[in-house]
Amino acid sequence: MLTTPDTLAEARQRLLAWFEANARDLPWRRTRDPYAILVSEVMLQQTQVDRVIPKYLAFLAAFPTLESLAAAPTAEVIRMWAGLGYNRRAVNLQRTARAVLNDHGGTFPHEVAALRELPGIGPYTAGAVACFAFEQDVAFLDTNIRRVVRRWLVGPEDQEPTTSERQLVALAESAVPAGQGWLWNQAIMELGALICTATAPSCWRCPLREHCQAYAAWRSADEQIFNLPEQRPARPMRRVAERREAPYAGSSRFYRGRVVDALRNLNPGSHTTLAALGPLVKDEFSPADAAWLAELVVGLARDGLVELDGEQVRLPH
Ligand code: ADE
Repeated sequence: MLTTPDTLAEARQRLLAWFEANARDLPWRRTRDPYAILVSEVMLQQTQVDRVIPKYLAFLAAFPTLESLAAAPTAEVIRMWAGLGYNRRAVNLQRTARAVLNDHGGTFPHEVAALRELPGIGPYTAGAVACFAFEQDVAFLDTNIRRVVRRWLVGPEDQEPTTSERQLVALAESAVPAGQGWLWNQAIMELGALICTATAPSCWRCPLREHCQAYAAWRSADEQIFNLPEQRPARPMRRVAERREAPYAGSSRFYRGRVVDALRNLNPGSHTTLAALGPLVKDEFSPADAAWLAELVVGLARDGLVELDGEQVRLPH
């Protein structure tokens, strides 16, 4: 699947040159502090870059060091997470900080395997911290990197051959240029964000176009259409665009978020009750919803997002 060494070297050189000319100036690209990198990566996992930037800066202003995050009341960390969603990330981030402090004397491990041992750190985050903080030549996949690697080295995502996550990681590893892991992984992410997007890739301005398996497949499909006007393009774009997500409003995640929002609005340290929480969380809350709400709050308590003491509820301290 992979190209010859010469074409790989050329593709690398093209992508890196494109990145040097087109990279966005993002605040987490100006630091090698593993704590700041971790904060950025956790935020970026489910939130868009534009929304993350101000939250990242505010979070680091509130908790500038690993130690300050580890020592903060969890309620304050959850408050600082307002507007980012997926609040469990805030609790997990603090757990990671506490583990680095307590189990590693406050110094982040450099190796992927050791980073993986930390609570709240999966394969992506471990790779990203090893690479973006410690400049290790490692490969890891997020949705952007996975899509770029798949298209560049295998072909369109919805066409044969199917590839496993392991195969894609191995391909991504084979592409990382020695000594340039930081630059390479930033570049490949940037290409996925700016050019090789899920639904409307701008192949015409892509530095990897001439090396890209997906581009070759799409172009040959287009040429066939040109000759056979009856046939439809093979590009998978629309299907990806039209894939429907489960509705958020009314989902359990939606109501969990409403509970945490309601608790954030209380004065720090104060409680409310399940009964008082009901109408804040659900319009037309009725006594028949009490068991549903209790179950929701028990789930949040299990995840460390709230403290439940009998009828009393608050953010955890
Ligand atoms: N998404 C996740 N990590 C990122 C990074 N370092 N730069 C841009 N987007 C990202």
